[in-house]
Amino acid sequence: MLNFELYNPTNLVFGKGQIAKISSLIPKDAKVLITFGGGSIFKNGVYDQVRHALHGFDVTEFGGIEPNPRYETLMKAVEIIREKKLDFILAVGGGSVIDGTKFIAAAVNFDGNPMDILHKRIRVENNAIPFGTVLTLPATASEMNSGGVITINETQEKLSFGGPAVFPQFSICDPQTVSSLPKRQIQNGIVDAFTHVFEQYLTYPHDALLQDRISEGILQTLIEVGPKVVENPTDYKLASNFMWSCTMALNGLIQKGVPTDWATHMIGHELTALFEIDHARTLAIIGPNLYRVMFETKKEKLAQYGKRVWNVADGNIDEMANQAIEKTVEFFHTMGMQTKLSEYTPDFKNTADFVVKRFEERGWKAMGEKQNITLEKVKEIVEMSY
Ligand code: NZQ
Ligand code: ZN
Repeated sequence: MLNFELYNPTNLVFGKGQIAKISSLIPKDAKVLITFGGGSIFKNGVYDQVRHALHGFDVTEFGGIEPNPRYETLMKAVEIIREKKLDFILAVGGGSVIDGTKFIAAAVNFDGNPMDILHKRIRVENNAIPFGTVLTLPATASEMNSGGVITINETQEKLSFGGPAVFPQFSICDPQTVSSLPKRQIQNGIVDAFTHVFEQYLTYPHDALLQDRISEGILQTLIEVGPKVVENPTDYKLASNFMWSCTMALNGLIQKGVPTDWATHMIGHELTALFEIDHARTLAIIGPNLYRVMFETKKEKLAQYGKRVWNVADGNIDEMANQAIEKTVEFFHTMGMQTKLSEYTPDFKNTADFVVKRFEERGWKAMGEKQNITLEKVKEIVEMSY
């Protein structure tokens, strides 16, 4: 097993009716900014619950954070916080609102141009405004990790950032919020979490036995509840297992002591930046082709996954690994994903060259667990995904 440190200070408050606990989690004298997205929280009663819980607090609101949150929008919230001297943020929404809030929290006191946090990948070590979250969409695990992804309108870039100062202080996860989600977002959540496990599991055989078993358990649970929760989002058993699986997939636990990949995400982010394709759907397009192109590197783990998660029949490693990829694509289709870029946009033809050029400019010339996903491989993966 590789050496690791596990640090996760987020107080995760999970279950029915937990939104009422906000009042005991935020300092009484805090001047709070509530951040939210396009208004779903007004329709499903979450806003009312939050405002009720914040009765007596000094509260300002900032709405309109987009899916794939925009730097330009977030900087408006930064101005409001500086102007009104607010000192706590409460993010109410999905991954976009939470990621956006992490960026706002980091930018307010940043010494320099906050754009550098993204362009120069400056780790947010300290000096961020404290924040908590009320999660309304299980998918990203942003509620219990210290990363975020922000889109810059001006340059059409989607860039990640993070650091220990942008862990949420607390996150309230009430699975009842799942009931108002559109099918498409539930499907996205399942596939995003599924791929998060893959990025930390589908590498090469290693000595971290428990991490593999936990990862396989998350995948099995997502397979079990995924198709059902799409049809029955009010079923609490399904919704709670969906929510907890998504959090567990990227709260840092399964990545400890193991090699990781993340290239599917890196390539996927470019497809969202270019075509505004939902994050999870970009992963369903790229992931299976990345496993095909990187077959020799990943085949042992693919075979293990096929055997333990899908019960594929015994065969040689290559056969089992190939079956595992096919089972995955089938599952993505069951979850409502289209898995070809051309099914989302007619303008796909120069995508591979564009992505390669971007990666080259950023110096991302060797990705993956063995640093063998070269620019040539990226081109092959993206072209295979047309
Ligand atoms: O904006 P509102 O009106 O709230 O509507 C949202 C949005 O339109 C809606 N929604 C959320 N909760 C709802 C709801 N509608 C009805 N009922 C509810 N309970 O869903 C839509 C999508 O929301 P969004 O937050 O964009 O989705 P998601 O949680 O999938 O987040 C995606 C973003 O997270 C980033 C992605 O790149 C993308 O920008 N990621 C963040 C990660 C992280 N921080 O660790 C890791 C991921 O890999 C991912 O990259
Ligand atoms: Zn993701």
